[in-house]
Amino acid sequence: MQKTAFVTGITGQDGPYLAKLLLEKGYRVFGLVPRHSNPNFSNTDYLGVTSGIEFVTGDLTDEGSLLQLIRSTRPDEVYNLAAQSFVGASWDLARLTTEANALGVLYLLNAVKHHQPTAKFYQASTSEMFGNSAEDGGVQTERTPFHPRSPYAISKLYAYWMTVNFRESYGMFTANGILFNHESPIRGREFVTRKIAEGVARIKLGLEESISLGNLDARRDWGFAGDYVEAMWLMLQQSHGDDYLVSTGETHSVREFLDAAFAHVGIADWQGLVKVDPRFKRPAEVNVLQGKSRKAEERLGWKPKVGFEELVRMMVDADLERQRARLGEKAFAV
Ligand code: NAP
Ligand code: GDD
Repeated sequence: MQKTAFVTGITGQDGPYLAKLLLEKGYRVFGLVPRHSNPNFSNTDYLGVTSGIEFVTGDLTDEGSLLQLIRSTRPDEVYNLAAQSFVGASWDLARLTTEANALGVLYLLNAVKHHQPTAKFYQASTSEMFGNSAEDGGVQTERTPFHPRSPYAISKLYAYWMTVNFRESYGMFTANGILFNHESPIRGREFVTRKIAEGVARIKLGLEESISLGNLDARRDWGFAGDYVEAMWLMLQQSHGDDYLVSTGETHSVREFLDAAFAHVGIADWQGLVKVDPRFKRPAEVNVLQGKSRKAEERLGWKPKVGFEELVRMMVDADLERQRARLGEKAFAV
């Protein structure tokens, strides 16, 4: 029997990687797209999955659209990846962030409970919920206390507990993936890794003189999105719903990311090429994230495959290719 998946956030970074995995496994994939005058399918195009996905229009903040879509698509698995996911914007957009990331999850859980209660539900939870809990050299695990430090993290904490609560109250199969930062060539351009990859590529090609960034000392546990969507799928193949932390176990600073990215294009001394701009600093920073995903390893058999250096090279190479293609198009136009 062919399985059906309902995936929100299909046009973001993780949605296309997950859709690729599910289509390869023979799933029918419905992808939720919010209404835009000019919808952008560049990420599903990049991974070659646009034609395999059945796109449906709706919005996490519109409960009626979710009730109608869960009723009509009858999914076996629901992956809620949609969110206002940029931490830096969440102070200025606190209400929008809360409505999509917190209330939106309640609406989707309700839609599943009413129309497809046997569906397995995945919620995209986040290491941001830990804040600076393990700053004193410790690593985060499923048992580390939460201390969210942004409206984004607070909204995600509400969704985390609501996901747990639907499991405990109604016996539904729900799972939280507490994912640490994961990146790829289709990472949004405002996130620090992609901003660096694109900036380095443009500097190398003589198209830009510098990159402006905020806190270079922040440390993150960066993995590859293609690896992390496998963990999402594995969580829903278990006999019962549970919560799992997903990370690489390594932490690196923004500075180290810069070192690796510039080194890859043969630039050793990048100090003069990076400007620190206070506009990119946050009112409350999460200084260090480093996760220990032993539970995912033992129970799901999941391990990351792509390491830090390979990830940086993959992202810089992809941006070099994109920038060269653009230059080629311009030359052709002349
Ligand atoms: P992303 O690239 O920012 O994608 C977010 C997606 O959500 C986009 O497709 C966006 O559509 C959609 N969306 C936003 N608001 C919506 C709404 N109100 N209704 C319906 N769709 C809406 O995020 P990502 O990096 O793929 O991350 C996927 C999920 O994992 C997010 O929930 C994020 O918070 C969480 N997460 C990410 C990471 C990470 O490191 N990437 C780590 C932990 C958790 P439009 O673009 O059309 O607006
Ligand atoms: N975006 C950005 N831009 N971040 C910068 C910059 C800059 O110019 N300069 C320094 N940083 C620092 C941020 O202050 C932060 O400490 C770190 O780089 C990473 O920032 P982001 O790439 O924006 O990611 P994030 O860690 O805030 O959030 C991402 O990961 C979370 C999981 O831990 C997002 O994908 C979230 O949605 C996700 O939940």
